[in-house]
Amino acid sequence: MPPRVAVLISGRGSNMSALIAASRFEQYPATISLVISNRLEAPGVALAQEAGVKSAVIVGRSFPDRLSYDKALDETLRSANISIICLAGFMRILTPWFVGRWLGKIINIHPSILPAYKGLNTHERALQDCVRIHGCSTHFVTPELDAGPIIMQAAVAVAPDDTIETLAARVLEREHAIYPLSLSLVASGAAMLKEGKCVIRGAKPREGSLIAPAF
Ligand code: GRF
Repeated sequence: MPPRVAVLISGRGSNMSALIAASRFEQYPATISLVISNRLEAPGVALAQEAGVKSAVIVGRSFPDRLSYDKALDETLRSANISIICLAGFMRILTPWFVGRWLGKIINIHPSILPAYKGLNTHERALQDCVRIHGCSTHFVTPELDAGPIIMQAAVAVAPDDTIETLAARVLEREHAIYPLSLSLVASGAAMLKEGKCVIRGAKPREGSLIAPAF
């Protein structure tokens, strides 16, 4: 049986949908079994329901502190026999206790080429800095925010007339490509967290480079 995966969201859920769509392919090595949102009104919850994936909402204000929230989250995940967690726009900081329990089994997608632009407003900051190349990363989650070992990255060239929205849209398209690929690597055991690094069996360096701008 392929590992059962939970996707944790707070909003739109487009990465969640990309993971669900990928997992529908017969050969995909993981099943998206549960979606958990910390916000009742997250549009992704309705999308999960439409896709026929079980969903749960665990709202932060029902708990006195972060640890009790994370214990309830952990309980929900374990009672659903989840073995891998994908964070996909989950806007809560997880406690070191929770991250420690799921270390090597919890991954995240971030809209920048890490370690650049950790945190929020990544596209806006990239445009302000006039970078020529921007992108997205998937990584194993560790207690430090957006700092865990990187699994996969995709780059996009920044166009001179890009706005936050146009750049975000191109990066998002790449997110939808690398997140399902990254999850398949982790679920199949090809990618793993080892001594603080992500080791990927069979990975070959890609030749050539993305040079931006082009003339
Ligand atoms: C994505 O840009 C993701 O990289 C970031 O939050 C956003 C979530 O978007 N962590 P969506 O809910 O998956 O559409």
